[in-house]
Amino acid sequence: MDSTLSIDIARLSARLADLAAIGAIEGTEGCARLALTDEDKAGRDLVVTWMRDLGLDVTIDGIGNVVGVMAGANDGPPVMCGSHIDTVRTGGRYDGNLGVLAGLEIIETVQAAGITPLRPLAVAFFTDEEGARFPPDMLGSLVYVGGMPLEEALDIEGIDGAIVGDELERIGYAGPAPLPGPAPHAFVELHVEQGPVLEQEGVTVGAVDGVQGISWTEVIVTGQSNHAGTTPMSLRKDPGYVAAACVAFVRELALELGHPQVGTVGRIEFHPNLVNVVPASASFTVDIRNTDEALLQEAERRFDEFLRATAEAEGCTVETRVLARFEPVIFDPAVVDLVERTAAELGHTVKRMPSGAGHDAQMLARVCPTAMVFTPSRDGISHNPAEYTSPSDLEAGTNVLLHTMLQLANS
Ligand code: GLV
Ligand code: MN
Ligand code: MN
Repeated sequence: MDSTLSIDIARLSARLADLAAIGAIEGTEGCARLALTDEDKAGRDLVVTWMRDLGLDVTIDGIGNVVGVMAGANDGPPVMCGSHIDTVRTGGRYDGNLGVLAGLEIIETVQAAGITPLRPLAVAFFTDEEGARFPPDMLGSLVYVGGMPLEEALDIEGIDGAIVGDELERIGYAGPAPLPGPAPHAFVELHVEQGPVLEQEGVTVGAVDGVQGISWTEVIVTGQSNHAGTTPMSLRKDPGYVAAACVAFVRELALELGHPQVGTVGRIEFHPNLVNVVPASASFTVDIRNTDEALLQEAERRFDEFLRATAEAEGCTVETRVLARFEPVIFDPAVVDLVERTAAELGHTVKRMPSGAGHDAQMLARVCPTAMVFTPSRDGISHNPAEYTSPSDLEAGTNVLLHTMLQLANS
């Protein structure tokens, strides 16, 4: 490993800023590029232009995943990096974007140094990683690895009523490349931690050894809409009360099960949502996660029991729909070791750790040796325009990715 080879952090930061200008949230550093919106299309067009400027062979598949490949000395499956460029509506500029733009920076660095690795190098961005508009999260990478048939993915309806297939056609990203996509030789994703651990421990690089399991459910509670002034409390069938009790229960359950169990109700709506009307229905989402599959199943079971008992006692009915369900993933120990060793050899402090967030790498892990590199997030803040990682941490993480990829490509 030639540790004097280094990426250009100014060039990487400039690309991060140029991409963040698309869908920029005024007065912040963040951006809103929900999957398959006009803003997502504009971001895609910019990144594809950069890929072509670097001479990459660019392919687009039927779910809109984009892969850019730089030829190696030999043919064969590439060493791939990448992530996503869609964001939540209140996104930062680093979540996902870093892993894609770091890949372009690495290719530019390798080309400028006149290096031709034995294996090809590839950079990918996968469609709808966030799942904030079209559940589940990691949709594009799930389809890429054959975890969901394309036809099923194209039929998914978003929170705004739009359909994945229609939106892909509309923005011009329903491509011809076949699915499932070809398995890479290996996959390594650079991402901001989005949590507080690295910063709190004063560590520069995370060698990510797995991703916790994710369970997303949509709940619709239906009751009896009625007059808020005239309906005695004892005669109500109030879905708003059931939803509120569930919000509190999800938190209590996570606290009782203890770290690393987490639970969130991130979306809630009452209908008709008026001051003097007992709601007719309430809908909300539940996001629960754990690194342990058995504990995650226990949390799911206990939430379901509470929901049904509370609704029944209130005279309400319940419908639930699974929006996403992925078991915990363990990354390839040899690739995790390589990330850890590379970070140490470059002089960085490094820690093996699991990921609290979902990532495209957890899907690629189904088809090839996979790991991730984390860089610290200031105050552990993410899914928030205030998300921030310092240039020196971005540089460290990107150099770890660079040298990890080169070793994988030359071995
Ligand atoms: C996806 O990024 C998630 O972890 O929610
Ligand atoms: Mn992400
Ligand atoms: Mn995210």
